Amino acid sequence: MNDVQAMERLGEARGQGLAAIETASSLEELRAAEVAALGRRSPVAEVQRSLGTIDLADRPRIGREVNRVFEDLRAAVAARRVALEAEAEADVALTDRIDVTLPGRRPPPGGLHPLTSTMRAVVDAFISLGYRVSEGPELETEWYNFDALNFPPDHPARLTQDTLYPDVPGDLLLRTHTSPVQIRTMEAQEPPIYVVIPGRCFRRDTPDATHLPVFQQVEILAVDEGLSLADMKGTLEAWARAMFGPDQRVRIYPDYFPFVEPGAGLDVSCFLCGGRGCRVCGNGWIELLGAGMVHPALFENTGIDPERYSGFAAGLGIERVAMLLHGVPDIRMFYEGDVRFLSQLARSA
Ligand code: PHE
Repeated sequence: MNDVQAMERLGEARGQGLAAIETASSLEELRAAEVAALGRRSPVAEVQRSLGTIDLADRPRIGREVNRVFEDLRAAVAARRVALEAEAEADVALTDRIDVTLPGRRPPPGGLHPLTSTMRAVVDAFISLGYRVSEGPELETEWYNFDALNFPPDHPARLTQDTLYPDVPGDLLLRTHTSPVQIRTMEAQEPPIYVVIPGRCFRRDTPDATHLPVFQQVEILAVDEGLSLADMKGTLEAWARAMFGPDQRVRIYPDYFPFVEPGAGLDVSCFLCGGRGCRVCGNGWIELLGAGMVHPALFENTGIDPERYSGFAAGLGIERVAMLLHGVPDIRMFYEGDVRFLSQLARSA
């Protein structure tokens, strides 16, 4: 072999070797290309072996060129190996760390607070009986909360130990019940009136299992010609069955509130023992609401003719109804914000 042939061979070997190395698409292909370009049977190795047949004068130059081609090919193999290993690593990392067949993580669904869903159920039951929603302010005057409702001036409910009087101008208080909206509604509307009144109420109570200083009521008021105690009883029984089921037994007994005459209370049979008597209810009944026929004094206070119209009203505590519906033993659980409790009773809207 002469020097020209040797240089030509080396040039070809270099070009072919680099091409094979750089296009190797896997580590196996790269190893094959490496053996072909740098192994004992590679064209460069052949030239190296036949160096002895080259003129002594040309031999050092050809020898240096052999080494340079070897080096270039080795460098190309090393660079390609790094690239292929990085690719393989990235593939392994993806498939190992991420199971792309897993379903996505859903955000936890929101739900209605049990007091919200109970409030809506109570209001909806009266809406389905033909009632409309009426509302009034939480910050009330003494007139609407007490006087217009026929409370005498010395009634103990007015005392600061029962009623919260905020430090604001005017004779304002935080309403202790939703009944003042009876007055506001009768002032604003002509009979026939059939309204359901949801709202927050406030009393100066120390929190315990059945009392909180902030709670919610629903009031109902019906004023029309010829309404009697029988209408009140039928309406409340229909509501109780809609809320608690058709087997719910209801009893109505005399009670006193200054704004009704006669006044009544309504009990439902106990949700736990079914009316036989147990630790929760004692005698089989649970007190649920106050009610009665609208006192004529309220008609006089609002300009409605008591000779022509009569009416009935009722007020109930939403927390009490929710406790009955869900068997919750302590009213405070509704307000502690413990998701482990709330999520058991949450309803989607
Ligand atoms: N407002 C009364 C209370 O809070 C309930 C009630 C409403 C009673 C309507 C009779 C008629 O205790």
